[in-house]
Amino acid sequence: MAHQFKDISPNASAGAKVTNWFENRFPTAFDAYRVHMSEYYAPKNFNFWYIFGSLALLVLVIQIVTGIFLVMHYKPDAAKAFESVEYIMRDVPWGWLIRYMHSTGASAFFVVVYLHMFRGLLYGSYRKPRELVWIFGCAIFLALMAEAFMGYLLPWGQMSYWGAQVIVNLFAAIPFIGPDLALLIRGDYVVGDATLNRFFSFHVIAVPLVLLGLVVAHLLALHDVGSNNPDGVEIKGPNAPRDEKGHPLDGIPFHPYYTVHDIFGVCVFLFIFSAVVFFAPEFGGYFLEYNNFIPADPLKTPAHIAPVWYFTPFYSMLRAITSEMMYALIACVVLAAGFGVVKGRLPSFVKVAVVAIAAAAIALMLSIDAKFWGVVVMGGAVIILFFLPWLDMSPVKSIRYRPSWHKYLYGIFVINFVALAYLGVQPPSPLGERVSQVGTLFYFGFFLLMPWWSRLGEPKPVPDRVVFTAH
Ligand code: HEM
Repeated sequence: MAHQFKDISPNASAGAKVTNWFENRFPTAFDAYRVHMSEYYAPKNFNFWYIFGSLALLVLVIQIVTGIFLVMHYKPDAAKAFESVEYIMRDVPWGWLIRYMHSTGASAFFVVVYLHMFRGLLYGSYRKPRELVWIFGCAIFLALMAEAFMGYLLPWGQMSYWGAQVIVNLFAAIPFIGPDLALLIRGDYVVGDATLNRFFSFHVIAVPLVLLGLVVAHLLALHDVGSNNPDGVEIKGPNAPRDEKGHPLDGIPFHPYYTVHDIFGVCVFLFIFSAVVFFAPEFGGYFLEYNNFIPADPLKTPAHIAPVWYFTPFYSMLRAITSEMMYALIACVVLAAGFGVVKGRLPSFVKVAVVAIAAAAIALMLSIDAKFWGVVVMGGAVIILFFLPWLDMSPVKSIRYRPSWHKYLYGIFVINFVALAYLGVQPPSPLGERVSQVGTLFYFGFFLLMPWWSRLGEPKPVPDRVVFTAH
């Protein structure tokens, strides 16, 4: 349908006339501004945890802009990549700043996204009707991991090279197709120039395009259903109070209220970000590993290969799956199947199916190498997040109104995740291995047993309206 031209008084200001000229020619942009900014009503009780979505957007922009400038000087060639990065650091005007912003930005991205995801967990933001917002988020997380992994190969340092070698070799553990798959990813029998070229292509164009598309879908889906809030109360629900124009009484327009709020968050973030970029860009070897200042040498394996910190919780879970640990996993399968058969109110043909599936799973677990199951566990640790909306069966969304012990459980979950991250950076040790095995079981137990524990205990009464005290 053609858009109605809006008339404007000849006495209007020049600014209003220019705006009117554009609005009559590009009404979609103005409608989008209204729908997503000036007339997007967000709950008035957003707190600290709600800053990380905007910060993730900011870091995305920082990564794209600094990335564009890096590509102007970087050479995706195994013979030149390392020296081109050194050239950027030493000779390109402001090259050191661009590179440190990009490398610090990678870690900042994960800090921000982990906190953003944790907020979702705290307030049950993944629950109905926001399941798709969460699923797009999980897909973003996967894309981000792929983006960071491929970007890390580009400086062609020792850690770039050997890290990629270790991770690509994991794919070779998949039965039947593994070796061919690893060959396809590398483009060669070892990580080499062909690998560098394809990772470069994926890192600078393919994955960023997917990431941008997913972020747009994430935000559109969010704005369709409306934001959750720390109380987990629906401000746009059928019974929610509204003013005479139909706007929710517990909501405020995103612009100007939350734009100002977010600008404050952006300032604090940039303060910390700049401190790292200018004073500690390597961040003690956690953001830029020291071994990566040595050019890649296919003939010299470093004594200790560890991925960058944001991958290490998952890397720990991979290392935890030893052949000994397989017995613990088999015991878990037996327990789960036994419980389903004895306690579950299931028709007898389903019980037979449960026993058959468990027997098949155990046969596979005994016959395929533990390394493969390590890969399955590592992948499963991310994939399980997609199912969170259906695992959580608590009658209330927000942690505020759940039984108090849920807070402790979430606290232990965080400590466990950080401990796994720490262990993943350390060289393997018998004690570390044992702790990461317990940590892996806890991580999966937290999610897989959620349908049971999330229903336990008495929730506190949930208020009808959001609780807000002005500060
Ligand atoms: C590039 C990465 C991401 C960007 C730019 C991004 C951006 C945003 C923004 C701007 C919001 C609204 C503001 C806010 O609620 O904080 C939001 C909300 C949300 N995001 Fe993300 N996000 C990203 C990654 C993720 C990931 C990895 C997940 C989860 C796996 C996720 C889950 C959610 C959820 C559940 C909400 C709704 C929260 C609520 O209403 O309480 N996001 N995101």
